Amino acid sequence: MLDGTSRFTCKGEKIYHSFRTSTFTEYTVVPEISVVKIDAAAPMDKIYVISCEVATGYGAAVHSAKVTPGSTCVVFELGRISSAIVMGCKASGASRIIGVDINEGKFPRARALGVTDCLNPSNLKKPIQEVVKEMTGTSVDFAFEAIGLAETMVCGFGSQ
Ligand SMILES: NC(=O)c1ccc[n+]([C@@H]2O[C@H](COP(=O)([O-])OP(=O)(O)OC[C@H]3O[C@@H](n4cnc5c(N)ncnc54)[C@H](O)[C@@H]3O)[C@@H](O)[C@H]2O)c1
Repeated sequence: MLDGTSRFTCKGEKIYHSFRTSTFTEYTVVPEISVVKIDAAAPMDKIYVISCEVATGYGAAVHSAKVTPGSTCVVFELGRISSAIVMGCKASGASRIIGVDINEGKFPRARALGVTDCLNPSNLKKPIQEVVKEMTGTSVDFAFEAIGLAETMVCGFGSQ
């Protein structure tokens, strides 16, 4: 727990919480800050798989960036966090979503979620930000970087 204590024991031995939540257990105790009330009408058989990347990614697009209808977005990486970013961009009405990933195996699902253009930086002869600017004619309205690399963050800033 946040105060260093634990609520779990096994055969008398203290067990520490996993990531302060231990949500793989049937019952758990979590800090109040880790609890979010969900809509009573939400289908439990679908939402139980939603984890932190959905709130992080979707929230980044919808609440933090406030993506606007008709806008153009670029999303660096097409894994878990960015899949939620893409869903947030699409739900906000973005008309063009450019996805960047070095693993082209991620492209089909990304397209199914709403990515309109997929780029593999390994196949490009120019820096990604230059290619993105050429594709859009100017720049993108919103750039998201979820890889966590300084190099791709610079590409994100450069695409705007
Ligand atoms: N999933 C979470 O909830 C969560 C929570 C906290 C932090 N993070 C961090 O966020 C980052 C992304 O997490 P994720 O769950 O989306 O990861 P993921 O493994 O699902 O996806 C990462 C993607 O990044 C791509 N990639 C790696 N290097 C790249 C590069 N140089 N250029 C373009 N694409 C590149 C990979 O091919 C992969 O598709 C990680 O650093 C992770 O530690 C994730």
